[in-house]
Amino acid sequence: MTIMFSSKVSNLLLLLFISFLAFQQVLALKQSYIVYLGGHSHGPEITLDDLQRVTDSHHDFLASFLGSKEHAKDAIFYSYQRHINGFAAILEEEDASKIAKHPDVISVFLNRGKKLHTTHSWDFLMLENRNGVVNRKSLWRKANFGKDVIIATLDTGVWPESRSFSGKGFGPIPSKWKGVCENATSVPCNRKLIGTRYFNKGYVALRGKPLPPSLNTARDHVGHGTHTLSTAGGNFVAGANVLGVANGTAKGGSPKARVAAYKVCWPPVGLSECADADILQAFDVAIDDGVDVISVSLGGEPLPYYEDGIAIGSFHALQKNVVVVCSAGNSGPIPGTVSNVAPWFITVGASTMDRQFQASVQLPNHLILKGASLSQALPEKKFYPLIRADQAKASNASIHDAKLCIGGTLDKRKAEGKILVCLRGENDRVDKGYQAAMVGAAGMILANDNTTGNEIIADPHFLPAVQITYKDGLKLFAYMNSTIDPKGYIQPPETIVPVKPAPMMAAFSSRGPNIIAPHILKPDITAPGVNVLAAYSEEVSPTDEDYDKRRTLFNTLSGTSMSCPHISGIVGLLKTLHPDWSPAAIRSAIMTTARSRDNTVKPMLDSFDYKRATPFGYGSGHVRPNRAADPGLVYDLTVKDHLDFLCAMGYNQKEIGLLYPYGHKCPGPHKKFNLADFNYPSISVPDLNATNNTQVTLTRRLKNVGTPGTYFAHIRKPAGVWVTVDPPTLTFEKIGQEKSFKLTLKAKAHMHVGSDKFGELTWSDGHHYVRSPIVVAAPLLP
Ligand SMILES: *[C@@H]1O[C@H](CO)[C@@H](O)[C@H](O)[C@H]1NC(C)=O
Ligand SMILES: *[C@@H]1O[C@H](CO)[C@@H](O)[C@H](O)[C@H]1NC(C)=O
Ligand SMILES: *[C@@H]1O[C@H](CO)[C@@H](O)[C@H](O)[C@H]1NC(C)=O
Ligand SMILES: *[C@@H]1O[C@H](CO)[C@@H](O)[C@H](O)[C@H]1NC(C)=O
Ligand SMILES: *[C@@H]1O[C@H](CO)[C@@H](O)[C@H](O)[C@H]1NC(C)=O
Ligand SMILES: *[C@@H]1O[C@H](CO)[C@@H](O)[C@H](O)[C@H]1NC(C)=O
Ligand SMILES: *[C@@H]1O[C@H](CO)[C@@H](O)[C@H](O)[C@H]1NC(C)=O
Repeated sequence: MTIMFSSKVSNLLLLLFISFLAFQQVLALKQSYIVYLGGHSHGPEITLDDLQRVTDSHHDFLASFLGSKEHAKDAIFYSYQRHINGFAAILEEEDASKIAKHPDVISVFLNRGKKLHTTHSWDFLMLENRNGVVNRKSLWRKANFGKDVIIATLDTGVWPESRSFSGKGFGPIPSKWKGVCENATSVPCNRKLIGTRYFNKGYVALRGKPLPPSLNTARDHVGHGTHTLSTAGGNFVAGANVLGVANGTAKGGSPKARVAAYKVCWPPVGLSECADADILQAFDVAIDDGVDVISVSLGGEPLPYYEDGIAIGSFHALQKNVVVVCSAGNSGPIPGTVSNVAPWFITVGASTMDRQFQASVQLPNHLILKGASLSQALPEKKFYPLIRADQAKASNASIHDAKLCIGGTLDKRKAEGKILVCLRGENDRVDKGYQAAMVGAAGMILANDNTTGNEIIADPHFLPAVQITYKDGLKLFAYMNSTIDPKGYIQPPETIVPVKPAPMMAAFSSRGPNIIAPHILKPDITAPGVNVLAAYSEEVSPTDEDYDKRRTLFNTLSGTSMSCPHISGIVGLLKTLHPDWSPAAIRSAIMTTARSRDNTVKPMLDSFDYKRATPFGYGSGHVRPNRAADPGLVYDLTVKDHLDFLCAMGYNQKEIGLLYPYGHKCPGPHKKFNLADFNYPSISVPDLNATNNTQVTLTRRLKNVGTPGTYFAHIRKPAGVWVTVDPPTLTFEKIGQEKSFKLTLKAKAHMHVGSDKFGELTWSDGHHYVRSPIVVAAPLLP
């Protein structure tokens, strides 16, 4: 799996592809595989004997294919002993395919690399007011700031010296904690940061070469893991800023939580990779250590569940009531790109906040173009000569490369002392600023191209700089063409709050539909993921570039990697407030209380094109933590419901038995479980067809977690679709009571085949609003 920073994705894919080719040549014969055997049925206390017995059984099992126990022991580098049953081993393809046919095996899949997908956000989410005052209605106060909940990340590790992880003022570590502080000399723990572990055997197997012993540590050499962990559970730190900008008090979603870092992603910086084999081991150990919430800001391409380390690991977490939260990915705005799509965890998209680090371009014709930046001011307050980067092209460079301000393509004699206009694309945004600085430019304007549209990101550029939208870029070029002596000035950044409209979907946030299981709408929810300020590693620069020698205790980052731990922090609060709620009930509370409107009370927009965003971007909407504390009703799900879902997805009785050794029977052919009936808090009907008059009836079940009362159904129909609810009212006499209803959807003749339609269903008692998006969509054409 790979880490997801939005600026790095294209470079990263390219590099991965290159390393994949090299890897294929060197290791054509043997590769690392994961053999997945399902679950264990250990007693409540797992003993050392249990662990030994499991490992022996893995050795015996593999020996029956490889001919000897010695070969088996050499081949296996992880034996998943606690919750997940299976092992990771170096195998020949032929053996792997033989093993896959064994009746006790659920799946055999290649150990793949996944990638990594950044504090004003909490007042935007109304947990505090703008002056940092936390009122009585705040979930923070109700949940005692997430006191003693244990939140873990699977990420690049942690920078333990960050004040966000100071143990000052914390009581004894909760007695249920069984975790450890591995290599405490390198990463000391305390009463806040209670556990650190690192897993790299899978990464080593993937790379085919060992890591230096200096990397036997959970210390964060990248910054990503420190950022995500402090966003989920960092303590209050006053005076946090990035190079003097965005000064304020940083904090995580559950500021009083205990945190643990499970390091599964390994350098190089910006290209970190996280191997499935390591991810599985981290899940297996973290569940046993006693974590409550696991935050996973990484992913790969969408994969079937049985071939995906995150889907498998989190399924076993669910069985132990551990809530898993995953990032949706940074491959938007292209449809069908959402990754991490299993229905047993929360998938998080990214959106903007109402804070912007605004800098603007001033032109002599009085035009002002508002952009974003976190860089310093120009040395003098005057108009500087303005040129397009291709006008500063070096004689040996192409116009295309020069426009993008790629290294070695600019001529110092032409650029010196001027403001250079560079186009977005190909090389990193901050690299363009570095290249401009290297040829003596006074400043840089970074103009979006037509694929990045209106999405502007505040970066800590090397020189005075600002990023502007595609439309503003066109205005700038039009001005520059209209005069023989173009000039401009860049006003230094200032923090603007509140910006309207906000939130907006981030263009990079991966979109539905879910191509693995179209009946489950993904992502589930959106949360702040653009220009998020949180703690950082002091081993890397804020721009992530080797040549940048600056260091900062806090940094702003953007990505679904940053929105995911916001939800993890909120889950920590809900777990503290409602310790008896299932993972599904917590997710339902978060989803049904979300909003799909912005701070102008209009439907949320997409920052890509300023058009209306859809549930394929935001799922149920933007999170509202205070409301999630009291949803009224929840769509709950048990482990057995999830097993029925897997039966309906085509897993056979034998496989279900392996996955869940405590016994579960798939519903028989007569009362076959319908995927559409899975009690999910959002409604996706991918197979409605007007031509053949399809009608789909689905069932849902609501549980009262508020006060007894009568709820009425309100429907906003998707265009061209009839929708009826039966019964249209539900009366709950007591807390904990469950009631079912049926929703029938019928396509009208003029429903446009192949297009997506959106509506919603809301149950209300006049006080609570339990809202579910309805998505009626034809299957995604390949
Ligand atoms: C602990 O981490 C340090 C790096 O910080 C490393 O040099 C050392 O080898 C590690 N120790 C062990 C026992 O792995
Ligand atoms: C940030 O704010 C704190 C207190 O509000 C103040 O003491 C500190 O000097 C500020 N730092 C910067 C760099 O503005
Ligand atoms: C052009 O020449 C300069 C200096 O000779 C060199 O540094 C640069 O890499 C060259 N650029 C390209 C695109 O070949
Ligand atoms: C963007 O512009 C390029 C050429 O400048 C064009 O080929 C492409 O179709 C445009 N893309 C969009 C999404 O408008
Ligand atoms: C400005 O001039 C350049 C170069 O002649 C041309 O490519 C571009 O389309 C013009 N842009 C506008 C907005 O007029
Ligand atoms: C009607 O269309 C749906 C969705 O395309 C399809 O699943 C179903 O088999 C069709 N039914 C008939 C009778 O053609
Ligand atoms: C809808 O149903 C018609 C008639 O059964 C069929 O020809 C068509 O392929 C279906 N459309 C889709 C998108 O499945």
